[in-house]
Amino acid sequence: MKVLGIESSCDETGVALVEAAESGTPRLLAQALHTQIDMHQAYGGVVPELASRDHIRRVVPLARQVLGEAGATLADVDVVAFTRGPGLAGALLVGAGVACSLAAALGRPAYGVHHLEGHLLSPFLSSDPPAFPFVALLVSGGHTQLLRVDGVGRYALLGETIDDAAGEAFDKSAQLLGLGYPGGPALARLATFGDPTVFTLPRPLLHSANLDFSFAGLKTAVRQQALKLGPNVCEQDRAHLAAATERAIVDVLVHKSIAALRRTGLDRLVVAGGVSANLTLRELLGAAAARRGVRVHYPEPALCTDNGAMIALAAAMRLQHEPLGAGDGYAFDVKPR
Ligand code: KG4
Ligand code: ZN
Repeated sequence: MKVLGIESSCDETGVALVEAAESGTPRLLAQALHTQIDMHQAYGGVVPELASRDHIRRVVPLARQVLGEAGATLADVDVVAFTRGPGLAGALLVGAGVACSLAAALGRPAYGVHHLEGHLLSPFLSSDPPAFPFVALLVSGGHTQLLRVDGVGRYALLGETIDDAAGEAFDKSAQLLGLGYPGGPALARLATFGDPTVFTLPRPLLHSANLDFSFAGLKTAVRQQALKLGPNVCEQDRAHLAAATERAIVDVLVHKSIAALRRTGLDRLVVAGGVSANLTLRELLGAAAARRGVRVHYPEPALCTDNGAMIALAAAMRLQHEPLGAGDGYAFDVKPR
């Protein structure tokens, strides 16, 4: 079974082709990605209308490229998968519309995927794939969740953010520090020149009894500290504040992940979503996990942020476990929230 996957939930157009046998981990045949970062940079964030229009421009050429690189043709595609949500409504509609049109033209099924399930399963395409069951820390721009994962489609929510997501905390703090979009990688870069102990920032809900997160208070503390430093803040202090911000977010993520492992008694952790690319998180989580004999699995670096491979993969893994329904005649919907 060959699955063509299309991701268009936000500011990356991703297309990929995976091949799956009846069982076993699907194999990535080819993937292509176009990021809109340059286009949105001038506005300091994603402009939804521009995002949709750019997905329209990119998606068909990317699909052609992927099929060409895989040595395949449209006739080889058995299923066309797309991101159904969450994401920007207009952007999702582009991927869903193209996927369902392609599927209809081919007389093949279309299959809608939950974007977070794509992130969650993306480490299965790495050279060190996890085995079920495991605890998953999902950290993206819109979500922060801890899950117990017993198999494909068998997910139990252990905790989640009650306000901002971890990626949002990175992005909003970066904005307060006068860094560009996307803020997470920019803040992480600046943080490498700073000392995380110079400024003291809160670690919200660090010792709460549950596995929930809260990052809104941290953002407020960063704003207050930035105001105190004033508009003429020196580069070194900005780096110290960036390092303190990164460390506060990472400390909470590490602490709660370990608590989730302790609570479930599991010894495998999967970290996925854009923030899983953060090197400080990887370093501190790696150290904490090693002390407890826990193995940590990440997606390949190129698959941490949004991509088509994770969507094709999630569809293929789902379809290995459940029969495809009768379908709804290619009428499609998206679920932005
Ligand atoms: O998963 P993703 O690409 O998109 C969503 O589904 O939201 O995640 C994007 C988020 C952004 O908030 C971005 O700032 C953050 O991931 N991010 C990072 C890093 N790379 C991406 N945050 C911290 N450090 C990084 N290296
Ligand atoms: Zn994402």
